[in-house]
Amino acid sequence: MCGIVGYIGKESALDIIIEGLKHLEYRGYDSAGVAFVEKKKIKKIREKGKVDLLKKSIEETKIKVHSAIGHTRWATHGSPTKENTHPHSDCKNKIAIVHNGIIENYLDLKRMLKAKKHKFSSETDTEVIVHLLEENLKHYPIFDSILNTINVLKGSFALLFIFADYPNLMIGIRKNSPLIFAEKENNFYFSSDIVGISSYVDKAYFLDDETIVFLNNSKYSFFDFKGAEKKIFPKKVEKSSFFIEKKGYKHFMLKEIFEQPEAIRETIQDRYSIERGEIDVGVDESLFENIEKIRILSCGTSYHAGLIGQFYFENFSGIETSVSLSSEFYYRDLEDTESTLFIAISQSGETADTLKAIRKIKGKNKIISITNVSESSITRESDAFILTHCGPEISVAATKTFTSQISLLFLLALSIAQKTEYIKKEKIISFLEELRKIPIQMEEILNKSESIEKIAYKYYQKESFLYIGRWINYPVALEGSLKLKEISYIFSEAYAGGQLKHGPISLIDEGTPLVAVAPDDRARNNILSNIEEAKTRGAEIISIGTKGDNELLSLSDAMFVISPVNEFLSPLLTTIYTQLFAYFIALRRGVDIDQPRNLAKSVTVE
Ligand code: M6R
Repeated sequence: MCGIVGYIGKESALDIIIEGLKHLEYRGYDSAGVAFVEKKKIKKIREKGKVDLLKKSIEETKIKVHSAIGHTRWATHGSPTKENTHPHSDCKNKIAIVHNGIIENYLDLKRMLKAKKHKFSSETDTEVIVHLLEENLKHYPIFDSILNTINVLKGSFALLFIFADYPNLMIGIRKNSPLIFAEKENNFYFSSDIVGISSYVDKAYFLDDETIVFLNNSKYSFFDFKGAEKKIFPKKVEKSSFFIEKKGYKHFMLKEIFEQPEAIRETIQDRYSIERGEIDVGVDESLFENIEKIRILSCGTSYHAGLIGQFYFENFSGIETSVSLSSEFYYRDLEDTESTLFIAISQSGETADTLKAIRKIKGKNKIISITNVSESSITRESDAFILTHCGPEISVAATKTFTSQISLLFLLALSIAQKTEYIKKEKIISFLEELRKIPIQMEEILNKSESIEKIAYKYYQKESFLYIGRWINYPVALEGSLKLKEISYIFSEAYAGGQLKHGPISLIDEGTPLVAVAPDDRARNNILSNIEEAKTRGAEIISIGTKGDNELLSLSDAMFVISPVNEFLSPLLTTIYTQLFAYFIALRRGVDIDQPRNLAKSVTVE
C-alpha cells in the first residue's frame, strides 16, 4: 500500500509532489510527508493525517525547490504517528527514502545495524533500508551501495532515494511493488501509479520487476539488480475519458455509482456484435481449448464478482468452476493439470494476495486476468488480460469496477461457449441483446436515487444488518453487506437465504433489519420463504425485487424494484440498490465515505 512520488525539474517540486500524492491517496491516507535538499541537508515535512494537512504545512513554509520525494502512508509497521511517517533518513540526515511495500527481514537487519551504532527514529521497516545504504556508503560508491542494499532486502519495495550531497541525483527502485518513471522536456517524474503524474506526461516507463532507475543530472539509465544496464521502452499514457474530479457529486463513490451505465457501455462495446452473433474479448482463442476446469482467484469485491462469474462459466460452457480467495489459495495443495484455466480478477491489478496466488501457478497453468489497469503487475504476469474500461475508481469502496467485471465475465463465458459450441448461437445472441439493455435499466434505477435515500435514512441508526440472497444474487448480498460495513462502520453479515435456518436466524429479533435480494429468478420462490421465516420472527424486510412482485411487496417494509431482466444479469441491477443504500446510510452517519478508516484502495501487502 502507500503511494510514492518523486520529481526533479524546472517546476516547483513540492506543488507537483502534493498534486501527485492527492491522486495517490487512494493507496493510503494515514499520514503524508515530503523530503528535499536544503543547504546540503535533508529537510522533511511530515504530517499525521491526510495530504491536505501536509499541503497546508508546506504552504506555510513558502519553500520552493526543484527536486523532492513524497509519500502517503497506509501504516503496516508502526502506528500512524509523525515519527513513523515517511520520508525517513539516515543517522547523518544525508539520505532520504520513501517506500511502498514491506521489508520482511527488517528485524534482523535492524539488529545488525543497531550493533553498528545506527540510531533509529521510527518503528518502521523502511528505516532499515536507509541505514543499510548509509552503512554500505562507508565502504562502496553509490551504485554498488545501492546494489548491496537492495539485494539483502526480502519482501516488496518501490523506493525513491535523494541525497543531500548529490542534489541532482534521484534513484528509483522496483521489486514487487509498482513504480513508474517518466520524462518530459527535462522534467523527471516517479510515481506508484500513472494517475499521480498523468497530467504532466504523454509517455511513461512502466518499470519491470527488479529495475533500478538511476537519474543523475538529467540523464537516466535502467539497471537490473545485478547492475547490468537494461533497455525499457516508454508507453503512451492513456488519458482517461473519466476525469478524476467529483464533477459536482458530493463523493467519488456517488459519482462512480452513477458512472456505471457508462462504464458498462465502455467495457462491453467493441467486444461483441449482435448482427454477426460474435464475441471477441481480445484473448487468443487457443486459451479456450480443452479447458476441463476453471479456477477464479480474487479478493474482496472482485471475489464477489468471481462468485457471480462462476455461474456464467458453469451454465454457458459447462465447465466446473471454483472461486478462491487469493489470500487463502496459496496454502492449498492442489493437483491441477494444465487443462485448468485460471482467471484472476483485480480492479487495481496490484493486490498482493492475488499476485502471490498467480505466481504460484504461473508457467504451469494459463492465466487470464481481468483488471482495470493495463500496466498493472497482475496484467503483466498473466498469459492474457481483459480490461474493464471504467476509468480510475477513486473511492475506496469498489462500485463501477464490480459491475464492469461482471459484464466482462459474462462476455468471457459466452466467448468460451462460442468456441466450444456448448450453447447455440441464437441463445448467445439473446444473451447479448439482454446485456445491451443493461445500461439503460441501470439508469432507470439511478434516476430513483432520492427514494432510496429516503428509505436509507429510516434505517441509518440501526446497529447491525443482515443481508440474504440466493443463487446468483447471494454474491450480491455479500457485496451489499461489504459495502455497508466498509463505508458506514455498521456491522452486517450476509447469508445465502437457505442458511438462515441453520444458525443465523437466532440473531433475528423485533426490528432487525434484513436486506433481501430477491428478484424474479429460479431462486425467487425459495427466498420468499426465507423472508417469510425472518419476518415471522420480527425482522424488518428491505427487499430488492422485480417490478410487479406483489407477494414480495406484501412481505416487505420497504421494497426496491428492478425491471424484468434475464436472471443471469439481475446482479447488475440489484447491486445498484445495495450500493446506494450503503452510501446514503453512511452519508447520514457523517463518516468519511471515500476514504473509510483503516482502509486503502490498493492492497499491496499480504
Ligand atoms: O484491486 P482489487 O480488486 O484486487 O482489490 C480487492 C479488494 O481489496 C477490494 O475489492 C476491496 O474489497 C474493496 N475496498 C471493496 O470495496
